[in-house]
Amino acid sequence: MADIKIGFVGAGGNASGHMQRVSAVEGVAITAICDVDEGRAKEAAAEYNATAYTDHHPMLDKEELTALYVSVPPFAHSDAEVLAAQKGLHLLLEKPVCLSMDKGFEILEAIEKAGVLSCVGYQLRYTDVIQRLKAYLADKTIGMISSHRWGGLPPTAWWRVMDQSGGQLVEQTTHQVDIMRYVAGEIVEAYAKYATRTMGDVENFTIPDSQAVLFEFASGALCTLSTSPMAGGGAGKSDISFLLQEQRIDWTGRQVTASPPVPEFEAEPKETPNIDQVFVQAIRANDQSKIASSFRDGLMSLDATLAANESAATGKPVRTKMAGS
Ligand SMILES: NC(=O)c1ccc[n+]([C@@H]2O[C@H](COP(=O)([O-])OP(=O)(O)OC[C@H]3O[C@@H](n4cnc5c(N)ncnc54)[C@H](O)[C@@H]3O)[C@@H](O)[C@H]2O)c1
Repeated sequence: MADIKIGFVGAGGNASGHMQRVSAVEGVAITAICDVDEGRAKEAAAEYNATAYTDHHPMLDKEELTALYVSVPPFAHSDAEVLAAQKGLHLLLEKPVCLSMDKGFEILEAIEKAGVLSCVGYQLRYTDVIQRLKAYLADKTIGMISSHRWGGLPPTAWWRVMDQSGGQLVEQTTHQVDIMRYVAGEIVEAYAKYATRTMGDVENFTIPDSQAVLFEFASGALCTLSTSPMAGGGAGKSDISFLLQEQRIDWTGRQVTASPPVPEFEAEPKETPNIDQVFVQAIRANDQSKIASSFRDGLMSLDATLAANESAATGKPVRTKMAGS
């Protein structure tokens, strides 16, 4: 008998992973699934013996849920989060949490007023290597940070449309920005230049293919970040490097190395719980502190990336709204 009943808004590629993982946790059942694509909603609902919906309003009215997952494209966040929070449902939301700070503040207010738990899909925070990196950097002075996310073009149609995804930095490289914030503190200012160099002919492509950003942290540390989707076909690179006095620390996805070496990064990484297990544990304990990225935290990562977009559009440095004002 399930004691935790989960609903989903969005049943696309990313949601299917969450569905598999959360339904594998003992005592959890997915009981309602909503997608504007009726075929997707019905297919996923059949798999989990859930009720399918194409509109979240009747779903939230009729279903007795414990928590709601929202995994829709960035432009598609509407009132599901606010309505769910008002009903007392705990929320797991995918990154980026939405596409504007106004919408983000509206959701934040509803979550904090209702006192429900919130978790944003920054799953890298839970990995052993990031936990060790955070502990190592906690008492160090970071001088500079350098990061790349050079990858290929995802097939998803909305991803390449600026008004729908916010561009690669907001949609995807938010993971790098979030790790940097998690281990190095808050970002107070962004200065950015964007260009479209090689992908202007790709159909329906309205995002820049070259984004160069300078972030300033509250500590005074400076970061240069470069992100592009033109690096398909094996040309990719994804990393973050931290420069301390006579010490460089490199994160490359699954691994952290120090040059010169330090013992903290030599042991094999430990297995870590997945984000869906963490979310369920937090619900059972009614304990927000078990979750590494709350909605407020996720909104701060959005804030930094939207500040970069505004800087690229205006040609001026832009302070972040939450940490930089
Ligand atoms: N944490 C991660 O590593 C990670 C990985 C991939 C995707 N994501 C995030 O997950 C979200 C979804 O991405 P995806 O790859 O699954 O996209 P997708 O296009 O595969 O799926 C999105 C689904 O949402 C549905 N949808 C759109 N508007 C809706 C609405 N108003 N109500 C209900 N359903 C709606 C679409 O029909 C589609 O089925 C994005 O925010 C993305 O950034 C996170």
